[in-house]
Amino acid sequence: MLRVGLGYDLHRLARGLPLWIGGVRIESPVGCVAHSDGDVLVHALIDALVGPFAHTDVGTLFPDTDERYRGIRSLDLLREVKERILEGVKIHNIDMVIILDSPKLSPYRESIRQNIAQALDILVDAVSLKAKTSEHTALDRIVCHVVVLLEKEERQKE
Ligand code: C5P
Ligand code: MG
Repeated sequence: MLRVGLGYDLHRLARGLPLWIGGVRIESPVGCVAHSDGDVLVHALIDALVGPFAHTDVGTLFPDTDERYRGIRSLDLLREVKERILEGVKIHNIDMVIILDSPKLSPYRESIRQNIAQALDILVDAVSLKAKTSEHTALDRIVCHVVVLLEKEERQKE
């Protein structure tokens, strides 16, 4: 059975904080205000992956009130999702858009795609990433949208 998954995340940006995207540290004067590392791309991706078959979301799986997740690397959470939640689920492809005015993300694209592919044990070819500016309409935030196509073997009806 095929199902599509949709994920979305937004974080506020503030000066002097680190900016992590897809497990890559981006050189930037601003970074995400967050309980974890604020990796907006991984958070949106987790939501896209755990919606269609597991009917849950990133905040339920990893509550930001839980001290265990303070400052945690979101890529580690993605690996945990792969092992714990996505058993028997095949990921056909992942398509992602980040909205951020600066810095330019194209120099980081390949590293980010590779990190995601490695964490999920899929081909880099199945991972696509684009970046767009907000045309200066949303300088204070970073936004990410993700869609995925998943497949799970159908269970026999009893
Ligand atoms: O938003 P806009 O259409 O002006 O973006 C033009 C191009 O700039 C994008 O297609 C993308 O290649 C690049 N871009 C980027 N990093 C961003 C925003 C845009 O690499 N943060
Ligand atoms: Mg988030």
